[in-house]
Amino acid sequence: SILNNQYFVLINRDNRLDKSYVPSNLKKSEAKFLEYVQDNNLESATSAAAKKMFDAAAQDGISLIGVSGYRSYSLQKKLYEARVREKGEEKTRAYTAEPGASEHQSGLAIDILCNEYQTLDEGFENTMAFQWIMDNMTNYGFILRYPKGKEDITGYDYEPWHLRYVGVDVAEEIMSKGITLEEYLER
Ligand code: DAL
Ligand code: ZN
Repeated sequence: SILNNQYFVLINRDNRLDKSYVPSNLKKSEAKFLEYVQDNNLESATSAAAKKMFDAAAQDGISLIGVSGYRSYSLQKKLYEARVREKGEEKTRAYTAEPGASEHQSGLAIDILCNEYQTLDEGFENTMAFQWIMDNMTNYGFILRYPKGKEDITGYDYEPWHLRYVGVDVAEEIMSKGITLEEYLER
């Protein structure tokens, strides 16, 4: 499938995955995830890259923790609908993709926090772990997918925790230019 050899595939509200799409090469992540988390599978190259990155961070004294990896269409649907019930559609859409529109369905996205900070909010950006991620993630093929100031392009508020695997070359180009995946693919 396209996702197995083209890691920089665009997934957003205008480019959705089929309801039936499940990555063929899902793997339980070897990188550490929060204990209670069920969605700790990743696409296999993403899984290997995450493991390498978590190990390198650990060597620098940084304890990264996975919070969410692959989410099926139906899990994303449950999540989205529960949040809409809780806080309404507008607030939900700021941080949550509709089913089919989430990168998590591709297995190429991972939400990451750290030992010292385990809340999915903007405060994560003030941690040493986030600084480490910003300094090192492209070496492992990851980009910050929803940067600050790019909300109009990505369709989402700033998410310092959501990384997307695109491969090392593309990651370096995107992060060094300070652009989004949308802008990279438009060139
Ligand atoms: N939080 C991201 C946008 C998602 O739901 O896929
Ligand atoms: Zn995410």
